[in-house]
Amino acid sequence: MSSLLIRNGTVVTATDLFEGDVYIEDEKVAMIGAGIDRSADRVIDAAGCYLFPGGIDAHTHMELPFMGTFASDTFESGTLAGLHGGTTSIVDFAIQTQGDSLEAAIQAWHEKADGHAVGDYAFHCAVTDFNENTRKEIPRVINEHGINSFKTFMAYKGALMVDDRQMFELMKELREHGGLLTSHCENGDMIDHMIQANLEAGNTEPRYHVLSRPAICEAEASGRVIDLAWQAGCPNYIVHLTCEEALERVRKATLRNQKVYVETCIQYLLLDESYYFKDGFEGAKVVMSPPLRKPKDQEALWAGINQGLVHHVATDHCPFCMEQKEMGIDNFSKIPNGAPGIENRVELLYSEGVHKGRISLNKFVEMSSTMAAKIFGLFPRKGTIAVGSDADIVIFDPEVRHTISADTHHMNVDYNAYEGWEVQGKTRTTVLRGTVAVDEGEAQVGEGFGKYLKRPPFNPHF
Ligand code: URP
Ligand code: ZN
Ligand code: ZN
Repeated sequence: MSSLLIRNGTVVTATDLFEGDVYIEDEKVAMIGAGIDRSADRVIDAAGCYLFPGGIDAHTHMELPFMGTFASDTFESGTLAGLHGGTTSIVDFAIQTQGDSLEAAIQAWHEKADGHAVGDYAFHCAVTDFNENTRKEIPRVINEHGINSFKTFMAYKGALMVDDRQMFELMKELREHGGLLTSHCENGDMIDHMIQANLEAGNTEPRYHVLSRPAICEAEASGRVIDLAWQAGCPNYIVHLTCEEALERVRKATLRNQKVYVETCIQYLLLDESYYFKDGFEGAKVVMSPPLRKPKDQEALWAGINQGLVHHVATDHCPFCMEQKEMGIDNFSKIPNGAPGIENRVELLYSEGVHKGRISLNKFVEMSSTMAAKIFGLFPRKGTIAVGSDADIVIFDPEVRHTISADTHHMNVDYNAYEGWEVQGKTRTTVLRGTVAVDEGEAQVGEGFGKYLKRPPFNPHF
């Protein structure tokens, strides 16, 4: 049996804040209290530091095959970068190839991750082709593969998009078997029309990405999926919600007491559409879908967090190097969609959220970890610091200031959209299942340390 004692920290969960020690035996938290008098294999003094539950990023794409290339982080490099920044678990998307089965996708994602991930990982299953064979796989995916969340894309026609009938039938199946429907909400047909019109007019630069994907496309699709889910009686989670108009559809649903879970991403809180209008090809760095929005949308999202309308701040980490982005140098619609963020999410949310007074410390923990664990069936194993929970703990020094740069980050990508940003507060040590995984910027564990997280059917009571 191994043991670790973290002394003199300030323990912060989604509900509590107290000075104390955390004693860990093997992979679990064994005791929490003031002045714990136990000997341990290793003792860490965390005076002046917060002890946060390990961050959970419920939206990542490691090695995603997409738009003629692959996302540049592997499960090894991406989860290790996450550990550097205080994220101990991810939920990545195993995406069905149209014409193939769901289980083939899950197997393919296990091959990418098993024995390679450094941090812990789970999968969502993205359904891109719902048919009678797929229908039969749903109970097995939930009960045997431990995947309770399914994703549909309402955009990317021809590759990933499903129609409303497929989505509605999937929802009914999920309601039956304990699944949660997550959805990428954009009206794919409207967008395809606008992309074509822009290209025909000779508009090829990155700025036409945002100009082809206005907020109304997202609001329409968000409202549609909310209504379909209401009719089907299916629990529903909107991924990467970006704008006030879509949030208004969620707010409206709450008036009939419909529970809609909402994820936004750190970039939608901190960056805005002016990025697309920078000189040259700079805007390609933030070509992602949905696109960055206006400052008023950022304000709506921060407010939505405090109003209980937004439940999780993820990243949609999907990095491409500039050479890959240049596939769209003459045609914005060929720029691979996605951007990096897994390493910076926790620290940016603390710095821009807590330090700047937009959210409380407890809210920060709820958004970066606890609610994702609750929604996706990982709680209380993950998402909190409690006796019996996995000892995933971030020792976080709020006094350290540092500057974000691609020169020093650990993500396998040659730019950082936050280059030069000054950040207040830094992850000093990341503990994953009782083992110090990263200490003062040095990795202490390596390839294969991460474990696959099987999840039970969706529990509507959280
Ligand atoms: O632009 C993005 N978001 N790329 C990743 C795929 C997705 O839509 O989530
Ligand atoms: Zn998406
Ligand atoms: Zn995504």
